[in-house]
Order: sequence, then C-alpha cells, then structure tokens
Amino acid sequence: MSNPHAPLTLSPRTRATLSRDFTWGVATSAYQIEGAASADGRGPSIWDTFSHTAGKTTRGETGDVACDHYHRWPGDVALMASLGLEAYRFSISWSRVQPLGHGAWNEPGLAFYDRLVDGLLAAGLRPHATLYHWDLPQGLQDAGGWASRETALRFADYAEGIARRLGDRLASISTHNEPWCTAVLGHERGQFAPGFKDAALAADVSHHLLLSHGLALQAMRATGCRTPMGIVLNQSSASAATDSAADRALAATEYARFVRWYMEPIFAGGYPQDAGIDHYPRNIRPGDFATIGQPLDFLGVNYYTRIWASAATPPLPAPRVLGVTDMGWEIHPEGLTELLVDLHRRYPGLPPIYVMENGMANAGDTVVDGRVADTARIAYMHDHLEALARAREAGVDIRGFFYWSLLDNYEWDSGYDKRFGLVHVDYATQARTPKDSALWYRDTIAAQHAGVAPSGQETVDG
Ligand code: FCB
Repeated sequence: MSNPHAPLTLSPRTRATLSRDFTWGVATSAYQIEGAASADGRGPSIWDTFSHTAGKTTRGETGDVACDHYHRWPGDVALMASLGLEAYRFSISWSRVQPLGHGAWNEPGLAFYDRLVDGLLAAGLRPHATLYHWDLPQGLQDAGGWASRETALRFADYAEGIARRLGDRLASISTHNEPWCTAVLGHERGQFAPGFKDAALAADVSHHLLLSHGLALQAMRATGCRTPMGIVLNQSSASAATDSAADRALAATEYARFVRWYMEPIFAGGYPQDAGIDHYPRNIRPGDFATIGQPLDFLGVNYYTRIWASAATPPLPAPRVLGVTDMGWEIHPEGLTELLVDLHRRYPGLPPIYVMENGMANAGDTVVDGRVADTARIAYMHDHLEALARAREAGVDIRGFFYWSLLDNYEWDSGYDKRFGLVHVDYATQARTPKDSALWYRDTIAAQHAGVAPSGQETVDG
C-alpha cells in the first residue's frame, strides 16, 4: 500500500525485480479511440449498431469520432515516444479491414494499420496487436454472430490475412480480448453489443469464441508467421467475505466461472465442472478441445479489481480499504499478486504472462493550468506494479505491464464519462494533455532504463 506522504517511486526491491526482461507499455482498442467510423470503406460493427440504438449507452454516446486516432495517430505515436514507452497494444477493427467480416478486404483499412505499425517501429515502439476487441462486423452478426460456428471459421480467415499482411512486423498477436465480456456482457446481460439476454446462448458463444481462438492460432501459424501469439483474458482473484463454508464455496464458484472457464479449455482440455452454472455449451464437437488447446507463446491477463464473495443476505460489503475507482470497482492491488500466483500454481507449463491491461477511471481528471493532478491514478499504478513484482518474486514469469489506457476514450456503455487515460482528451478540440500519471510513468520507465541494483544502488543496465 502506498504512503500518501512520500513521493511515489517504486521500491528499490521492485525496481530490481522488474529490471530485466520486462516491457513497459500502454493499451488501447480500435472502437474506443479510432473514430472515422465510416471512413475509407470501413463497414459497420456490432458496436456501431449498439451505440446508435437508443438507451444503450450513457447520453447515447457513440464511437463515431472518439479520439479521432484514425487521423491523429502520428501525433499519438509521437506522444508515446516522448513518454519513453516501449510498447503499444492496440486492436484491429475487423470491419475496417474486411467490411463484411468475410470475402473482400478493404485496402485503405489495411493501409491504415500498415502506416500505424511502421510509424510505431520508426518511433521505437513495439506493436502488440489484438485481433478482436469486441467489434464484430455487423455483416457476421446478421448471419448469426458468435452463436454461429461459421463465425469462428471467418475469424480464422481474418486472422490469417492479418498474419500475412502485418505479422512479421508485430511484437505479438492476441486473438481475443476478454472473451468473458463478449459472452456474458454481450449475450447474457445485454450490457454490451450485441445486447442479448440469454444465458444458454452466452455459454454457446463462449465456446465458439474459444474455438475461434484455436482455429486462428492454427491458421496464423500455418502461414509461417513466427510472431508470439496468445490470448488476453480478464481475470480477478476471488475473496470470500468470511471464513464460512458458504462464502468460501461462493468465491470458488465465481472464480471458476470467471477465470477457470477460459483457462481450462486452453490449458487443461475442458470446462470446469464445478462452476455451478445452469448452462454448459451445447455446441461442443469432438476435437474442439484439441483445437482450443493450441500451445500459447504468452498469456495476457487484464486485472482491475477482485471478486468479493458473500453468500449472506444482504451480502456483506467489501472493505474497500483503498477506495473505489470511478467505475465503482474496488481498488485491491494484492488481488493481482494472489491471482498471478494462483495461475502459476494451478496451471503447470503456463507460458509467460503479460499484464495487458490495468488501470483506473478517475473522477475529476480536469486540466487546470495545463496540468491534470491525478494523484489517485499514480497511487493505483504504483501499488499494482508493486503487487506485480511480488508475484514475479514468487516465481511467476511476468514479462510486461500495459497501462489501460494511453488516452481517455470511449468506455463502451459508459460513453465518454469515464476517464482511464494517462493522457487527457478534450473531446471538443481533441487536445491531448499528459496527466501527472503520464509523467510519473515516463519517469518510472526512465529510472528502470537507468538501472538499479538490488541494494538500491544505481548501475547501468540497459
Ligand atoms: C476492459 C476492456 C477495455 C476497457 C477497460 C476499462 O475490460 O478490455 O476495453 O474498457 O476494461
């Protein structure tokens, strides 16, 4: 936990722990920043449809313009370079490069990612691409979306095309971002596109997402692409509110549904049978788990908060010792250590892990005299990096940290209300202002480059 009176720098122990084989980056996704929703032949995605449907998002906000990154990417890349970032995780808008999700490719859309990747490399930033960050081409949704097995085949074709076009210039390729969100928030709770409320459907969708991941890895590797490939999962530790058997059982069940549901098909050949859910996928075919279980070069983990499990009525509230973010998510850095150590213990042979997202929405991130004093975000980052280092010391092979997000951006159903960025965006002018947290991150990375010995003594160690 951070001391509010001390200037926040990583502890000497953490600096030493993270001094080698560690990548410092930031993350974004296409629909949240690009805008240019109908530019240069881009087709509509389910997020265009959903955000334009009355009542689905805060104030009816859409990603039509977002951060206008499609046009402003050179400035955004220069900004990242000026902060000394090493790596940038972004996603490819499938309907920008293949407007219907199958068939014809859209050359201007592909050319945009060509320019972006080349621009990143020229600026000394390693490009980490995600193929699917929730924006399914509407054309595929119209043909059944992720409820249809065909969509998994189309995803593999798309992945193959991207591997051929961009593969050798990318530092990594992730198939999916947070398939739990697509399945549960998109198909069970109706909170995200495509907006269905059907738990049985969501279970089927989770299976097709995993299947598409395995098929995509096979298709990309068959092109000869040697770029490291993986998947990004949203995960949490799970805390039982009390030591009662009921609370402990609930915590275990929630963990099975949220974390193990995606880990076990990939790393252990099947779904957990103790997830306490009514709906198991109805669409499993022989051989599917062999496809899903393709070896991974890395696992991406996104961590924001923990699961708090109380079986009481009404439930006991989480203690929230460090407060909550503007999303209402409890700040609990120790959960990151607990989660990573548990993954390491539970799944022998786990590939290296990248924390592909971690960050907070902060209320009141406003520009005053050219500055955004987001001290809460600095504390959040500091405490989570300390927690990550504890897991590394416990033997977990963690290779990098990507802050979510580079820019304030379109936070899905919350619209532009929630500010996660290291860089403030004024949506009226598109002006970018690095917040204090951006400068803190810059200085933290620079200090790592300057080198540190376990004693805290400075050494030169690139
Ligand atoms: C993650 C998403 C990302 C962003 C953050 C706050 O679940 O991957 O797009 O919305 O949450």
